[in-house]
Amino acid sequence: MMSEKRVTFATKLGVIATAVGSAVGLGNIWRFPYETGQHGGAAFLLIYIGCILLLGIPVVLAEFIIGRGSHSNVSGAFRKLSPGTGWHYISYLGITAAVLIMSFYSVIAGWTMEYTYQALIDSFGSHTPEEFQQDFTAFTSSPLRPIFWTFLFLGINYVIINRGVQNGIEKYSNVMMPLLFLLLLVFCVRSITLPGAGAGLSYLFDPDFSKIDSSVVLGAMGQAFFSLSLGMGTLITYSSYFSSRTKLVRSATTIAAFDTLVAVLAGIIIFPAVFTFGISPSQGPELVFITLPHVFQQMPGAYIWSVLFFILLFLASLTSTISMCEISVAFFTEERKMSRKKASLLHISACAVLGVLCSLSFGVLSEATLFGRTVFGWCDFLSSNILLPLGGMLISIYVGWVLDKKVIRKEMTNNGELRTRLARILVFVLRYIAPTAIILIFLGGLGVF
Ligand code: TRP
Repeated sequence: MMSEKRVTFATKLGVIATAVGSAVGLGNIWRFPYETGQHGGAAFLLIYIGCILLLGIPVVLAEFIIGRGSHSNVSGAFRKLSPGTGWHYISYLGITAAVLIMSFYSVIAGWTMEYTYQALIDSFGSHTPEEFQQDFTAFTSSPLRPIFWTFLFLGINYVIINRGVQNGIEKYSNVMMPLLFLLLLVFCVRSITLPGAGAGLSYLFDPDFSKIDSSVVLGAMGQAFFSLSLGMGTLITYSSYFSSRTKLVRSATTIAAFDTLVAVLAGIIIFPAVFTFGISPSQGPELVFITLPHVFQQMPGAYIWSVLFFILLFLASLTSTISMCEISVAFFTEERKMSRKKASLLHISACAVLGVLCSLSFGVLSEATLFGRTVFGWCDFLSSNILLPLGGMLISIYVGWVLDKKVIRKEMTNNGELRTRLARILVFVLRYIAPTAIILIFLGGLGVF
């Protein structure tokens, strides 16, 4: 088991689908709309796309170069590529972020399971907006029920992660992602023919630049890193399983394009409905859960649509959390020689403890705040807006300044097979542009200037 040969992904579709499976999840469908709503709409979207292009894609490539260049877990990768240096400490940052993110993520994934259940027993019926809101609050603030779902979700992760890379992840990513995408397209059509669609679409696409301040920019950068699963080594770990023929640039741009498309589709579904049903766009984490059931109500065959949607959203969360587990599991099995079972148990237990606190943040612990944030709020803010960009900055400095240029050229050209000048441009961006931009956004967002 411990000395097992590293597997690689079986098919080309497998590579993209698995990375997309990691990228596409609650970040696109739950977090993106609510962050957009809290940060004023179109202006946020514009900066978000800027962050994807300028920071996201280059840092994805940097992670790919490290991962495939070393065929190793995060810590092993840095040890192999730069022996005797302290760069491998980045892996601790990654594991911390993975546990923090997975803790609050599992709570929301638990909500999607509750909603799947509610959809199955057909309880949405003819609810009014107020009733959806009341039901939501009653559910999320109750002490036990959401925790039950969180634990169930973590348990499912445990089972899957124990079955290994190939079987566990690859197979069903290939089917689910396209299905989720199709479903979103159908909902889009319904949403943009609602009476409030005009207002919703202009909220999403017609920027009001006066809304931009440094917290909007920090939020957009955090969301970009979160949505691409960037900055904590997920993509280092995943790309360590890439074959030598995988085209890195094409994979990175495909993943980023697809990920952004899904987020924008989610926005196109949510905001017209928000304006049609008189929901406030700045609701926060509940936005998707109180908005979407309305959209389904307006469709013939509402039952089927809502069941299908919540099942797929749950599965999309699962492919994302599995990628978070894989960071710790690869680290503990390869660096600490633990069994896969023990490693996943360790990761998941930590998430369970923190997950309980996150879940209670919507109920009995909602008053337990520090600087206005609950435990849930802190896990989210700290990981998305601080740790991920920080990790991304270190990774870009590493590839831009430290890593042997030969490795970069080798990985970018697939060992000389592809002809590309992009390696030079990439190094320039990673050296100068990405780290500077991340620092400036940090300092701005934390109120330094
Ligand atoms: N990108 C995923 C989403 O949008 C979440 C995710 C999975 C993630 N793995 C990650 C975020 C690693 C940051 C780092 O839902």
